[in-house]
Amino acid sequence: MKDKILSPSTASLLLNWYDRHGRQLPWRERPQDGRQMAADPYRVWLSEIMLQQTTVTAVRPYYEKFLALWPSIAQLAAADEEAVMVAWAGLGYYSRARNLLKCARLVATQLNGEFPRTAAQLQALPGIGPYTAAAVAAIAFRDPAAVVDGNVERVVTRLLAITTPLPAAKQLVREALLPIIPVERPGDLAQALMDLGATLCAPKRPACSLCPLQNQCHAFAAGTQEAYPVKLPKAQKPTRVGAAFLLIRQDQQIWLQKRADRGLLAGMTEVPTSNWTSRQDGVTTSDAAPLVANWQTAGKVRHTFTHFHLVLTVYKADYKAEIAADTTAAHRPNSLPENGWWRDLASLQDEALPNLMRKVIAQGLTPC
Ligand code: ADE
Ligand code: SF4
Repeated sequence: MKDKILSPSTASLLLNWYDRHGRQLPWRERPQDGRQMAADPYRVWLSEIMLQQTTVTAVRPYYEKFLALWPSIAQLAAADEEAVMVAWAGLGYYSRARNLLKCARLVATQLNGEFPRTAAQLQALPGIGPYTAAAVAAIAFRDPAAVVDGNVERVVTRLLAITTPLPAAKQLVREALLPIIPVERPGDLAQALMDLGATLCAPKRPACSLCPLQNQCHAFAAGTQEAYPVKLPKAQKPTRVGAAFLLIRQDQQIWLQKRADRGLLAGMTEVPTSNWTSRQDGVTTSDAAPLVANWQTAGKVRHTFTHFHLVLTVYKADYKAEIAADTTAAHRPNSLPENGWWRDLASLQDEALPNLMRKVIAQGLTPC
């Protein structure tokens, strides 16, 4: 094998492989699909925002739903924020949804409905970082930008046996790719690398025998595929604990409220919870309940956020009007907070409930 650089043949082997084995995904236009149409920038942008930190499998149904609800950027720009949050609920990283709407409105009102065509310009828009800017520019506009996500990092660090640890290796991967980006198909090269990483060049036991790049792969030659990419050791995530409260009326309505506009799960719908604390003596009792009632434990729910694990103890109680009227709990006004509402358990899909809250409600409704 020659020097540790990628050659133009790497690009053509990848593109040939992509034409045969690339994944069929709803936001892709490929030459063999027989479509003359160029990729629709709106669709490419929508898919790339959804694919940030989220798997293709999770994104697919949400992408289809968004396109059905808002087929064009003008329609999305005219949407209610609440409707967008409800449609996004369950996909996670909710600031993406708010920025999605901001970006749609900006492009619709100030840019005549047209996305800028280069990575550098795209990056100035809300919710578009360097990765997404490169992806949209390459896929929608043939901008010869290097698109480097986790899959691409794995493929290229293996091909070139790059021993520099991530995240520093990212820049080396970008520099290795730039010279081989074909002018006609920058987006397809990017997606070919993503697909190779998502299918054959898996983190464990890559299927090198099927790989079009086997002959050029330094890690394969050395038998050290799984050693790449090299990563700096990660800090361990702390665990926080807390309590969550399901108040259920006899007519099957549940008490919900809106989270603060800032911070984690900002503006999303929740059941009341205590503070989430890392302290050993954290709140896992009904002390933080929104009102005095006959709270019963209903198990625990575990959830992982970017920076911590969370364990919530779930409590539930039947809500009777007389509970709220009970003024004997002198130190605490025993009434429900003003920022909440009752919602029928049968229509929870109309609420912007994050997955954590869906798990909490499901846990609370499971018979003990
Ligand atoms: N992940 C991010 N962008 C993607 C794309 N266009 N195709 C497949 N996976 C992706
Ligand atoms: Fe990945 Fe194996 Fe192909 Fe190298 S030969 S790029 S390790 S699948």
